[in-house]
Amino acid sequence: MRVAMIGTGYVGLVSGACFADFGHVVTCVDKDASKIERLKKGEIPIYEPGLDDLVAQNVNAGRLNFTTEAKDAIAEADAVFIAVGTPSRRGDGHADLSYVYAAAEEIAQLMDGFTVVVTKSTVPVGTGDEVEAIISKAKPNADFAVVSNPEFLREGAAIKDFKIPDRVVVGTDSERAREVMRELYRPLFLNETPILFTSRRTSELIKYAANAFLAVKITFINEMADLCEAVGANVQEVSRGIGLDGRIGRKFLNAGPGYGGSCFPKDTLALTRTANEAGSPVRIVDTVVEVNAARKKAMAAKVIKAMGGDVKGKTIGVLGLAFKPNTDDMRDAPSLDIVPALIEAGAKVVAYDPEGMHEAQKLMSGLDYAEDAYGAIEGADAMVIITEWDQFRALDLDRVKTLLKSDVVVDLRNIYAPEDMAKRGFEYTSVGRPT
Ligand code: UGA
Repeated sequence: MRVAMIGTGYVGLVSGACFADFGHVVTCVDKDASKIERLKKGEIPIYEPGLDDLVAQNVNAGRLNFTTEAKDAIAEADAVFIAVGTPSRRGDGHADLSYVYAAAEEIAQLMDGFTVVVTKSTVPVGTGDEVEAIISKAKPNADFAVVSNPEFLREGAAIKDFKIPDRVVVGTDSERAREVMRELYRPLFLNETPILFTSRRTSELIKYAANAFLAVKITFINEMADLCEAVGANVQEVSRGIGLDGRIGRKFLNAGPGYGGSCFPKDTLALTRTANEAGSPVRIVDTVVEVNAARKKAMAAKVIKAMGGDVKGKTIGVLGLAFKPNTDDMRDAPSLDIVPALIEAGAKVVAYDPEGMHEAQKLMSGLDYAEDAYGAIEGADAMVIITEWDQFRALDLDRVKTLLKSDVVVDLRNIYAPEDMAKRGFEYTSVGRPT
């Protein structure tokens, strides 16, 4: 099959490389000429484990191309994927669909023969209808079908999530389009991956419902963590105790500083907007949005409390800035609330993140950056872990002890055992576990 991927952001690039690896001929199109130049040279603009090799192999095999010229790519394609950004619109929190609609206009001008137009971007219910209307208006005789095919890729594990997904969701009522989608994902069906064919609107809502449900799960366990602290219980054991019930499931029950990233904050907000406008509010998600935002802000107070209530003139070594490990993505990262609040309270912050520092420097000022974890905590009054990178799980704790000026460790990801830390003489605070 021939595929055109419009947009070489996170989703477009990963999906394009994976479809090429399935054996299809994929052309990734982006208007950003410098990005396309870099990609042609094999430079990957984002940090995603394994993506550089996957892109290189498929470029060398002649199955993956990059261009700023949409014309040939779209005209020759059996399927054109729209994988452009849908950021939160300033002011009202709705998804901004201007890039999606601009892509639809362009596809209408350039498509040739039966073409399946697939929305991969996360788009509110009804967007597929609008894309269809735009194309029909621009090209009345066009032979096409618009399909919703949401992505469920986690940053840091995106290639695995694409190639070994829990399910593939395809929303369309066109049998011809279904055939094309079946062919595109054929390698997955050999592994018996479930494919869910449904209506376009249902498919669009599945994406939001999935992200919102996961955000609810995280927020629930975060509130349980607070309750555990108040009553002297252990949230990790509560997670295990409830998660072993197959109806609940063990995943996404790790308490922490609140969810961040490019998806959950944006998608939960957009879902609440859609729901309110449809006159059918999803109150549990309204609450989750509010509770999560407050939680991220409350984490700085937790650190200050662990340091005796006053951080004026004290130095804090911060480990981890990205919203989660294995990514350089800083979007809505809890560190963006925590670090400035600590600086505001009078602390000097020295931070280290294996991949996120470049992005962090663009977004935060007034702190120093270290070359490695030990550099960040040398002479500090406290070590604060915000992101659970594997290398922070394996710190030489004897060295940490000698480098820190005091014994305070605040672990917002529960990566160390409280008993062990106490035995080593640390004043250890974590999330929802007795000290
Ligand atoms: C999320 C979903 O997991 C993907 O399925 C989805 O495709 C993607 O959004 C998207 O819509 O594009 P992602 O944002 O990359 O993926 O990251 P997650 O691993 O889901 O983590 C999101 C946030 O929740 C992070 O801040 C993470 O630290 C936090 N989290 C996650 C917790 O605090 N506790 C957990 O148990 C799990």
